[in-house]
Amino acid sequence: MIGQSAIRKEGRAKVLGATQYTADVPVEGLWRGATVRSDVPRGILRGIHFGEGIPWSEFTVVTAADIPGKNRVASIVADQPFLVGIGEEVMHPEQPVVLLAHPDRYLLEAARKAVRLEIEPLPAIFDMEASLRQDELIYGTDNLLKEIRIAKGDPAPIWETAAFVIEGDYRTGAQEQLYLETQAILAFANTDENGLRITIQGSLQCPYYVHGAIAGLFELPADHVRVTALEMGGAFGGKEDYPSLIAGHAALLAWKSGHPVRIVYDREEDMAATTKRHPSRTHIKSAFDANGHLLALDVDFQLDGGAYATMSPVVLSRGTLHAAGVYRCPHVAIHGRALATNTPPPGAFRGFGAPQSLFAIERHMDICAQRMGMDPVELRRRNFLRLGDSMATGQVIREDLDLAGLMDRALVELDYDAKRKRFQTENAASPEVCRGVGFAVFMHGCGFTGSGEAKLASVAGLEALPDGRVSVLAASTEMGQGKHTVFAQVAAEALGLPIELVEVAPSDTSRVPNSGPTVASRSTMVVGKLIQDAAVAFRQGLIQQGLLHEPFTPEAFQAAVRAMLARSGSYKTYAQYHTPPQQKWDDTSYQGDAYPTFTWACYATQVAVDTVTWEVAVEDFVAVQEVGRVINPTLATGQVQGGVAQGIGFGLWEEVRMHNGRMANTQLTNYAIPTLADLPEIRVVFLENPHPAGPGGAKGLGELPMNGPAPALLNAVDFAVGPLRLDEVPMTPERLLDRAEEVARG
Ligand code: MTE
Ligand code: MOS
Repeated sequence: MIGQSAIRKEGRAKVLGATQYTADVPVEGLWRGATVRSDVPRGILRGIHFGEGIPWSEFTVVTAADIPGKNRVASIVADQPFLVGIGEEVMHPEQPVVLLAHPDRYLLEAARKAVRLEIEPLPAIFDMEASLRQDELIYGTDNLLKEIRIAKGDPAPIWETAAFVIEGDYRTGAQEQLYLETQAILAFANTDENGLRITIQGSLQCPYYVHGAIAGLFELPADHVRVTALEMGGAFGGKEDYPSLIAGHAALLAWKSGHPVRIVYDREEDMAATTKRHPSRTHIKSAFDANGHLLALDVDFQLDGGAYATMSPVVLSRGTLHAAGVYRCPHVAIHGRALATNTPPPGAFRGFGAPQSLFAIERHMDICAQRMGMDPVELRRRNFLRLGDSMATGQVIREDLDLAGLMDRALVELDYDAKRKRFQTENAASPEVCRGVGFAVFMHGCGFTGSGEAKLASVAGLEALPDGRVSVLAASTEMGQGKHTVFAQVAAEALGLPIELVEVAPSDTSRVPNSGPTVASRSTMVVGKLIQDAAVAFRQGLIQQGLLHEPFTPEAFQAAVRAMLARSGSYKTYAQYHTPPQQKWDDTSYQGDAYPTFTWACYATQVAVDTVTWEVAVEDFVAVQEVGRVINPTLATGQVQGGVAQGIGFGLWEEVRMHNGRMANTQLTNYAIPTLADLPEIRVVFLENPHPAGPGGAKGLGELPMNGPAPALLNAVDFAVGPLRLDEVPMTPERLLDRAEEVARG
């Protein structure tokens, strides 16, 4: 089964329109929930007023005063309230203050508009510069949500003696995940002789995160809370932490009203209020010897973390750990900071901080090559990490790594050398449309960072079904990335069964163990490995009991499973994660093995720039990557093509415009994402190098493709019309025009 393009387990239902997303589930006696939000970025809540003309007695109204347990969303730092109470501080302009429920959605909308919040305004800050300068102190003692330092050697003495010292400043903007299905949660509250029970169903990546949030909010024992992730229309990190907040809201309304309550955000509310990619600013100082060997790197990496910590500490961590890129360097200092501002908190988004810091280093390498009069290919080739080299944290490359091979393959596929020469002549001859080629070489750490996986201690398992088939038990969710299918393939392979005899249980906390959150591209490598181990144990168990003899037919296997069930009532096997002994990490010094392994890639692209309108057309895109072993080529190719499309949007078009801390362009007409018509064929090449950490040698793939497109595109645009020292994404036509005029003026 490994290496076969098995058909998506849930594909048929999706294609036939039979899949029920959260908003589609029919519910008897359903009420709808709505959220009243602050309308100022910062202030003290003084009063809540319910306007005229609304039959308020028909409504259920929830404020902070109603909350029975802890009014804090369980996250890394417990700083974000479910609802702001009277006398408390409002921290951003989309902050939830009042919840309303009613069976009629139109009346509900009218009521939402009729609630007036009395907020005594306080001065607010909206950008990283103001936060660093502490124009206002809005968070803790220094506006810092998190600070990280990584040190290797000592760059200080190098600046004096190096042949080249080159500095640059790079910025990336916010980006909206834009999953097709907006945020949606369904909540049920029931009280029996043992007390209150809350059931949540919804569009959510991490059932056990929501489980923890609800248990804390109502101070309930774990078995009184049940959370099920339904089929999702995409998530991309956007349903990692925010669903805990919405689930809390829906649960409070269901509990107080005595009715099931569904909250579904419309697109505008979803874009305005929920998390996005963190805007970033990176300053890089680098030193090279006369032959272009990298001697020292100093990186100052800053993220705009918004009003609460949410996922910022871990997004910052991954961004910081990827900041030195794929290069060998003896002296490295990296300083990462996540800064508080009065904007809705950004959160997880595919890549998790790495697209920001890798954009900076991969743009910087091209700018350095220009400054040193070197070919960007040759500069990279001289500095690539290889087997035995150590990274900034001291992590030693233990696998046979061939970045030069990856790069060469991508450049050959694109016909880079020939095109570089040809475009130089053609651009000079007809400057109305200029063509360019560019590339980026990059990586992505697999699984949770550092000791993260050890702390999670994830569990996954297999369960015998009465008809002799087998079900995979894991909390990991399906958001389009193909987890159902990949898990079934891994289990089928290890059991020696056809895939039809393996089903994947729903991600329901009452039924499946905690296999950890569905984030960090960890499902295939980390959870998949546990499933493989559980499957080996399952098969061995049947053999040891004398019920199965190798070699066996699927029918014999099913008979053995039924016999096992007849004997013992139920048959389940589990496997738990243990850190491999050679992997060492120190959380305080940030030294050691940040990840069990990395995936590696080179993406190369060809663009055409219209020098009248400054529109950029992406004419060709080649994505070459090494992701260990590919389990399902069709799904893996889809992951790369989708990630590249999102990366192209990030690099060229998707601009979040903020006004007083609030997103101003919350519609698909003014927030432009790439459509099929805007994209070239995205050509995908996998170079296989099986790694022992994952099932069948597979590593994680989901996020990698997001990291490369933006720098590759800007490198290509700069070749076409530069040098313009392009240092910011999205590089919209307006920005490109401004920069070209600036450079023309000298
Ligand atoms: N692909 C689809 N179709 N939809 C998604 O929401 N999320 C991405 C990536 N690919 C996503 C996706 C993100 S942010 C992550 S972390 C990984 O999938 C998670 O899934 P995995 O662990 O199975 O790679
Ligand atoms: Mo992905 S950003 O780790 O959900």
